[in-house]
Amino acid sequence: MKRMMMVLVVMAAGLWMAGPVMASSPLSACKSCHDISATKKSVMGPPLFGIMGAKPVGAGITVAVWDDKTMDQWLLDSKKVSSQSKMVYKVADGAKRAAIIAALKDLK
Ligand code: HEC
Repeated sequence: MKRMMMVLVVMAAGLWMAGPVMASSPLSACKSCHDISATKKSVMGPPLFGIMGAKPVGAGITVAVWDDKTMDQWLLDSKKVSSQSKMVYKVADGAKRAAIIAALKDLK
């Protein structure tokens, strides 16, 4: 019985530790179209490094700077921010958008 408990504890610890490693970064989906490194290369879209607080570069984007509110709107539906937006990717889940915005703030 004692041995059985030990096995369970070890398994639970294993799962707990695997969690953060297996969970991908909130920005992993962006990487297919954006460079998130300090190299700031343009891929499909403009580089995202240092984007929070920066002025938008895309055509037709009327927001002054990227902040929590404007980035949230862009990720929800970029067409609402710029009718000319070429970014088709959308994030419907508000919690995911918040996690993405927090991760973008770390890119500096
Ligand atoms: C399928 C490709 C694709 C994916 C995935 C994608 N983007 Fe984009 N993104 C684009 C393109 C293309 C543009 C340029 C849009 C334009 O200028 O009309 C863009 C533009 C942007 C801009 C505007 C930058 C500026 O200043 O003009 C932001 C911010 C942005 N993306 C953030 C993100 C984030 C954050 C993610 C991940 C959650 C993401 N994008 C995922 C293609 C993508």
